[in-house]
Amino acid sequence: MIGQKARIAPSILSADFARLADEIDRCEAGGADLIHIDVMDGCFVPNLTFGTKVIETVRRLTSLPLDVHLMVVQPEKYFDDFARAGANGLTIHAEVAPHLHRQLYRIRELGCRAGVALNPSTPLEMVSEVSGDLDLLLVMTVNPGFGGQSFIGAMLDKIRRARAMLEASRSGAALEVDGGVARDTIGDCWRAGADTFVAGNAIFSAHDPVGEIAELRGRCGVSV
Ligand code: DX5
Ligand code: ZN
Repeated sequence: MIGQKARIAPSILSADFARLADEIDRCEAGGADLIHIDVMDGCFVPNLTFGTKVIETVRRLTSLPLDVHLMVVQPEKYFDDFARAGANGLTIHAEVAPHLHRQLYRIRELGCRAGVALNPSTPLEMVSEVSGDLDLLLVMTVNPGFGGQSFIGAMLDKIRRARAMLEASRSGAALEVDGGVARDTIGDCWRAGADTFVAGNAIFSAHDPVGEIAELRGRCGVSV
């Protein structure tokens, strides 16, 4: 993490979809690094959100990389469509990926960055055998399904252990956190070793979403 800047990924789950183009413009104006798109199937998580059409739409609205988080069972059913729609990264949940090595390989074959997410109760060991094959490891800091939930403080230790695991395997993977990331939690996540921060409610409910992105980034010191 030496000299690295924190990467901010606004989650459009909390955006106003009647003004999606404006919301994405604000993310760009604020210097967002990625746009995070939460795909939920009402099965893996108790909520339904977007599919291919929304990914295609966001792709037309921005040149920022699209960080697609699949909270779905059988995620491989969607890889081809989502890659074709313009996803740059596909992150699948270890809890529903019994053939993780093959699934990650397939994501990379499609030209996307391959990520794995872990629910708060899922041990890091679920990904220890593939840590060298990851482009991104996502530590969930809420139970997935909804925006606007409270950050689970106990996940800070997991973030520290995840950073140590990635370093031990000489992985260059990004370490992302998602859920309850806001002004009062992002600094602790950064110091614990995270480098990529998903934020929905904190950005889109702010009076000034453009300024909020800088506020969040400002709470992450740059290590030199
Ligand atoms: C939660 C989603 C998140 C969500 C985060 O299940 O994966 O990406 O949008 O929302 P906030 O930042 O509001 O907790
Ligand atoms: Zn997410």
